[in-house]
Amino acid sequence: MGKGFFIGKTVGIMAIILGSAALATIIALSVVYSQEKAKNNNQVLPTDGGTTSSPPVTPPPSNEPWDRYRLPKSLVPVHYNVTLWPRLTEDATTKLYIFTGESSVEFECTEETDLILIHSNKLNYTKLDNVHLARLTSVNSEVKAPSIKNSWLQNVTQYLVLQLDVKLIKDHKYHLETKFQGELANDLGGFYRSEYMEDGIKKVVATTQMQPTDARKAFPCFDEPAMKSVFYITLIHDVGTVALSNGEVKQSSNVTIDGHNVQMTIFEPTKKMSTYLLAFIVSDFDFISNTVDGVLIRIFARKPAIAAKQGDYALNKTGPILKFFEKYYNSSYPLPKSDQIALPDFNAGAMENWGLITYRETALLYDEAFSSNSNKQRIATIIAHELAHMWFGNLVTLRWWNDLWLNEGFASYVEYLGAHEAEPDWNLKDLIVLSDVHRVFAVDALASSHPLSSREEDIQKPAQISELFDAISYSKGASVLRMLSDFLTEDVFREGLMTYLDTFAYGNAVYTDLWNQLQMAVNASRTQLPDTVENIMNTWVLQMGFPVVTINTTSGVVSQEHFLLDPDSEVTAVSPFKYEWIVPIKWMKTRDIQEPQWLRGKSATINEMKASGGDWVLANLNVVGYYRVNYDLGNWNRLVEVLSNNHTLIPVINRAQLVDDAFNLARAKMISTVLALDTTKYLIKETDYMPWESALSNLDFFYLMFDRNEVYGPMQNYLRKQVTPLFEYYKRMTFNWTIVPPGHLDQYNQVNAISLACRTGLEECQNLSQEWFNEWMNSSENQIHPNLRSTVYCNAIAAGGAQEWEFAWSQFEQATIAIEADKLRSALACTKQPWLLNRFLEYTLHPDKIRKQDATSTIVYIANNVVGQSLAWDFVRARWSFIFAEYGGGSFSFSNLINGVTKRFSTEFELQQLKQFKAENNVIGFGSGTLAVEQSIERTVSNIKWITENKENVLNWFNNA
Ligand code: BES
Ligand code: ZN
Repeated sequence: MGKGFFIGKTVGIMAIILGSAALATIIALSVVYSQEKAKNNNQVLPTDGGTTSSPPVTPPPSNEPWDRYRLPKSLVPVHYNVTLWPRLTEDATTKLYIFTGESSVEFECTEETDLILIHSNKLNYTKLDNVHLARLTSVNSEVKAPSIKNSWLQNVTQYLVLQLDVKLIKDHKYHLETKFQGELANDLGGFYRSEYMEDGIKKVVATTQMQPTDARKAFPCFDEPAMKSVFYITLIHDVGTVALSNGEVKQSSNVTIDGHNVQMTIFEPTKKMSTYLLAFIVSDFDFISNTVDGVLIRIFARKPAIAAKQGDYALNKTGPILKFFEKYYNSSYPLPKSDQIALPDFNAGAMENWGLITYRETALLYDEAFSSNSNKQRIATIIAHELAHMWFGNLVTLRWWNDLWLNEGFASYVEYLGAHEAEPDWNLKDLIVLSDVHRVFAVDALASSHPLSSREEDIQKPAQISELFDAISYSKGASVLRMLSDFLTEDVFREGLMTYLDTFAYGNAVYTDLWNQLQMAVNASRTQLPDTVENIMNTWVLQMGFPVVTINTTSGVVSQEHFLLDPDSEVTAVSPFKYEWIVPIKWMKTRDIQEPQWLRGKSATINEMKASGGDWVLANLNVVGYYRVNYDLGNWNRLVEVLSNNHTLIPVINRAQLVDDAFNLARAKMISTVLALDTTKYLIKETDYMPWESALSNLDFFYLMFDRNEVYGPMQNYLRKQVTPLFEYYKRMTFNWTIVPPGHLDQYNQVNAISLACRTGLEECQNLSQEWFNEWMNSSENQIHPNLRSTVYCNAIAAGGAQEWEFAWSQFEQATIAIEADKLRSALACTKQPWLLNRFLEYTLHPDKIRKQDATSTIVYIANNVVGQSLAWDFVRARWSFIFAEYGGGSFSFSNLINGVTKRFSTEFELQQLKQFKAENNVIGFGSGTLAVEQSIERTVSNIKWITENKENVLNWFNNA
C-alpha cells in the first residue's frame, strides 16, 4: 500500500453540499404540503447511477459496449488479489471516512478483444503509470500484453473502461492491477461504515453489503453472479481490531505502512464464488464460538452484547440448523467456518455472504429480558434462511438475477424446515401460510402483478435487479416450491435437489436445471404426475397470478379462473397458458381425507366431489396449493355451520383459510361480503392463533377502509364482543396476566387478544396497559413481559400525551438492545398528537436520531396510525427527491414505503394525489419502488369501488351482529 491515497476534492465538496442540503431540508420541514413542495423543488438530486437511483442525465442511446449494462463474454476472471484498508477515523481536513485499496485480477481471454470492461462504482483511481487507471501485464512472459490506449470511468453503467492498442489473445491469461480509494460512507451499500456508542465513545465498524451490485463499490471486479472466481483477500486495520472475511485467517501480523503501525490480516483463498457473496469487516467486536463436527461456528457482536450473552441463542441454534441442512441436502457444509455477525447499521435483515453472514442486530441478538417470542422466532428462521443459502445460492448460484426468485423463494421455503429443527414445538411449518402464502396472495391478485420468472434481457440496470427482491420472488417463490415439494413428495424433491447441488457445485444454473434434476428423480420413483415437472411448474412460474378453483358440490363440476381482487381491472399481460394452471387438489369430504385430484384445463367433472345431505367438501388441505377455493352457496353454508358447531372438524390451517378465502372472494365479488363476515361469527369460540390472525389481517382492511367514517363505531362494538371471550380465556390461562402461556402460538394469540381488546376499547384492557406503562414510568423498572411490550407501549402512548411520548423516546435513546429500541420506535408512532407525529417524522431523516436503516419503516409505522396517515403522506411527497437520493439504497424499503403510506387510500381525491405524485416525480423516479406506485394506484381504484359497493351492507351487518 503506497502513497497517493487521498480523497478527491470534488468528492469532498460534493459531500459538504449534500450534508448541508440535507440539514437545510430537515430544518425547513413544515406541514403544509403546497408550501413544502415549492421549497423543495430545487432539492438534491441523485448524483450518479447509484444502487437504485436512475442516472440524472440519460446518456444518448448508444450501442458502445460500455453503454450496455451486461458484461461482454470475452473475459473470465480466474482469481483476484485484493487488499483493502478502511480508515475508521475521519480525515481531519475532508471530514470524510475513506478506504484505500489495491487489486489485481488474473483473467482469461475467451474471445479476442481490444476492450476491457470491469465494474467499478464510486472509486477514484491512482494512475499507476501517470497516464492510465490500471496496469495490464501478461501472465505468460512470452506473450506481451497490449498497451492501454485509453482509460476512463463510465459512471452510468459503472465500468472502468480500458481500450487497448492490440487485441488480447484467446486462451491467454493476463493480470490487471489497480490502486484506488473510495468513501467509507454511511450508505449501507458496498464497503460502508456503521457507527455506535459504547461507554460514551463513538465506535466505527467497516463492513460490506455487496448484493446485488455493490461489490464494484469496494474494488473493480467482474460483478455478475456467473463470473465466479477465487479471491485472495488481505485487510489492513488498526492494531487490536478484528478483521473478518469469507475465509479463515491465514496470517495476521503487525506491519508499518507509510509510517503507520497497522495490522495486516491475510485470509485463506475463498472457494470459487460470486462477487456478491464477498464480505470484509473490521471492528472491535467480541465473539463466542463452538465447533460442530469440525466446523467452527462463531457469533460476533458489540462487546457489551456478547458480554450480556445476547449471542448465545444464535450460537446454540446454528449448529443444529447447519446439521439439518447437511442432512436435507445430503451435502456437507463446504467451508471450514461459519461466522455470523450482528451490525448496528444494516439495510436488509441479513445477508448470506459465504462463511460470514451479516445481520441487523434485531435479527441475531436475543435477550430473554427484552426479546419476545416473535423476536426469537425471527432469529431462528432468519438463521435458517441464510444457512440454506450456503448451498442453494452460494455453492450453486443462479446464472443471472432474473432467476432470483428461485434463490430467495427456495430459502424462504426451507427456512421453515430449518427453524422447525431448532424449535420443534413451535408449529413453525404451518406459519408459512400466513407469512408467505397470504402475504403474496394480496399482491399477486392485482392486474399489475408479474410472473415469478423474468427474461434475462429484461433485467439489466441495478434498479431493475433491486426491484426483484419483492414479495413475489420471496413469498410466491416459497409457496410454489412448497406445493411442488408436496406433490412430488419430500423424498423425491430432496433427491432432485441433491443431484442439482452435486451437478452444479461451484458453478451456475438456470431454474430449468432444477426442474430437470427433479424430473429425473420423479422418473426413478413411484410418484405419478399428470405432466412433466417443467410443464406443471411453467403454469405457476411463467404467468402471473393464481387461480380460484370453484367446486360445485351439486354437479361435481370443478373449474378454475384467474383470481383478481378487482374483477373489473384490466389484465393487459398476455399469458402463454391463458391463465389456466395445472392444479393439485388435496381435499376432504366431511370427516374423511380423499384421493388427491388434478385439475387441468378450464373445468372438469369430479363425481366424488358431489355432496348431499349434511356432507361438506373442503379443498386445498393445509393450503399446500397456491390457490383459493370457492364453493357453491350450499357448501359454503354447511362449512360456516361446521365452524360454528364443531370447528375442530376442520384442520386449523383451513379454518384460517376459510376466513381468508371468504374475505377475498367477497372483495372479488364472487361471494357476498355478508357471507365473509359470517365466517367471523364462530371466532367467539375459537382460541387457536392461525384463524384469529387470519381474521385480524382481513379485518385490518376493514379498519383501513372504515376508521375514518360511520362504520367504525358499530364495527368496534362487534369486534369487542367477539374478542372478549378470548381476552378472558388468556386472563384465566395466565392467572391474571402473571405468567406466559406455555405454547408458542398461544403466546402470539395472547398478544392478539390484548391488542384487539384494547383497540376495540375494552376498558379492562386499556386500564391494564396504562397501569403497566405508568408503573414503568414511575419506578423506571420495566415489569412488562417482552411478548406484550409492543402492544402495551402502543396502547399507553396512544392514550397518553407528551409525557408518555417523551419517556418512551428517552428509553429508545438509551436502549442497549436493538430489539427493545425497535419496540419503542414502533410504539412512538401510536400517539394521537399530530405535533408529536410530525416531529417524529422529522427525526426519520436525521440519522443521529433514527438510523438510516430504520427510516422508511418508521414512516410506515406513522402512516399506519389513522392520525398519522395524511401527515406521513404529505411528508413523503414533500421530501421525495431527498428521501430517494439518501434512502434509496435498500431493496425492500422503497416498495414498502410507497405501499405503506398509501394503503389506506380509498377516495377519488387520494387517487388524484397519488397520480399527481407519480407525474411530478417522473424525472427523479421511484427506483426499486416503481412497481409499488402502480400497485398503489390499482389498490386505490379498487378500494374506492369496494367502499361504494359495500359500505351500507357492512354497516347494517355490524349493526345487526
Ligand atoms: N439475500 C438476502 C438479503 C438481501 C436482500 C440482499 C435484498 C440484497 C437485497 C437475504 O438472504 C434475505 O433474503 N434476507 C431477508 C431475510 C429472510 C428471512 C427473508 C431479509 O433481509 O429480510
Ligand atoms: Zn435470502
